[in-house]
Amino acid sequence: MTNQLLITDARPYGEDAVDVLVTDGVVETIGTGLTAPERAEVLDAGGAVLLPGFVDLHVHLREPGGEDAETIETGSRAAALGGFTAIFAMPNTDPVADSPVVVEFVARRGAEVGLVDVHPVGAVTVGLGGERLAELGMMAHSPAAVRMFSDDGRCVNDPLIMRRALEYASALDAVVAQHAEDHRLTCGAQAHEGAVASRLGLTGWPASAEETVVARDCALARDAGAKLHVCHVSSSRTIEVLRAAKAAGVRVSAEVAPHHLLLTDSRLSSYDPVNKVNPPLRTGDDTRAMREALAEGLIDAVATDHAPHAPQYKDTEWQAAKPGMLGLETALSVLVETMVEPGLLDWHGVARVLSERPAEIGGLPDQGRPIAEGEPATFALVDPDGVRTIRGAAMASKATNTPYEGMRLPATVVATVLRGRITARGGSVAPGGSVAAGAGTAPAGPFGHGGVQA
Ligand code: DOR
Ligand code: ZN
Repeated sequence: MTNQLLITDARPYGEDAVDVLVTDGVVETIGTGLTAPERAEVLDAGGAVLLPGFVDLHVHLREPGGEDAETIETGSRAAALGGFTAIFAMPNTDPVADSPVVVEFVARRGAEVGLVDVHPVGAVTVGLGGERLAELGMMAHSPAAVRMFSDDGRCVNDPLIMRRALEYASALDAVVAQHAEDHRLTCGAQAHEGAVASRLGLTGWPASAEETVVARDCALARDAGAKLHVCHVSSSRTIEVLRAAKAAGVRVSAEVAPHHLLLTDSRLSSYDPVNKVNPPLRTGDDTRAMREALAEGLIDAVATDHAPHAPQYKDTEWQAAKPGMLGLETALSVLVETMVEPGLLDWHGVARVLSERPAEIGGLPDQGRPIAEGEPATFALVDPDGVRTIRGAAMASKATNTPYEGMRLPATVVATVLRGRITARGGSVAPGGSVAAGAGTAPAGPFGHGGVQA
């Protein structure tokens, strides 16, 4: 039996309205005045902007081990509501995702939930300990087909381990995603090193702790001919390192988190730990530099660093609180606020940074595709005129630690479509979107990505 979906009155990349007929997960026809075939589901987009589904290279789903903060299911729901169709799950879970058994569990559970393609990121070192390389090859060759490795939350500080990781990853056609932080320089750090931290009496996290690791890693990636991805760039200094490395042909890509586009350390005077994040909120000059670098393409992608925390780790004093903020359900709105409304990005640009480039970096052949006949029907539908007041308690995430609480932000996700199946619509996760629907239905790409054999 064929499954058909007719999306009416949608504007691809903000251009003229069309109808899109989808058959068995693939775009069959794009035109105007299309009539719905018998038994086809109809999604009236009401003039919404049609974009390729968003791909998030940096998500903390917390399962296994941190289910009081988030689960693969609640995180998948948050992702679908945010317009995401693929997410990369960071390995700092308990147990750490440093072995085939853990990455396979995450991939399998993601496929069972079936709301978004969940790609586990494998740890670079055993237990994130920074001392012994994990079995990168075993994770890459497992059914989870891991193609991204990271010790995120920790930096791979040892240059020899980092060098070996890049060499192995290169042989596996994988990418190493570095959380760039020289831990010797950030020992005890609580805030961006600058005037605000001095005034508040907080130990500083110098921008050079990021900049120096990125410079070193670019040299190592150059020598290994390997792909390096820089997580959550936060400092303007790092941009200049990336500029030089890219000009020299180093295979380096970079992401920025939405909070580093919008928020600064001026928020810290309240001592509210909802603003505590690693790397820390920096200055207005830094947020401006992030926006310009994203517009220019020096920063390739927006990745949320979605970091849910249970209340006991956030409703506490600053020094004791854990770093991290929710991001999946607010990423688009922050991007529209900081980049689209000021004229720094158009809708093609949004597709580039939220979908096309992250899909390329993560090695996902069936995500971030053009909106065209014969391509996968994997979409986010966006109402640019929608306005929302952000409420952590109303989110699908289990945790509520959003730094945007009470803020009015532009743009809403009208619907999310994964291979022709509606996963979210009108602010709700699509009923029936879970369990059997996703398992095993995803076509495996050249890397075996796009789904996991359940
Ligand atoms: O703020 C952060 N939270 N930064 C990280 O690198 C890790 C993350 C987490 O796991 O909570
Ligand atoms: Zn990190």
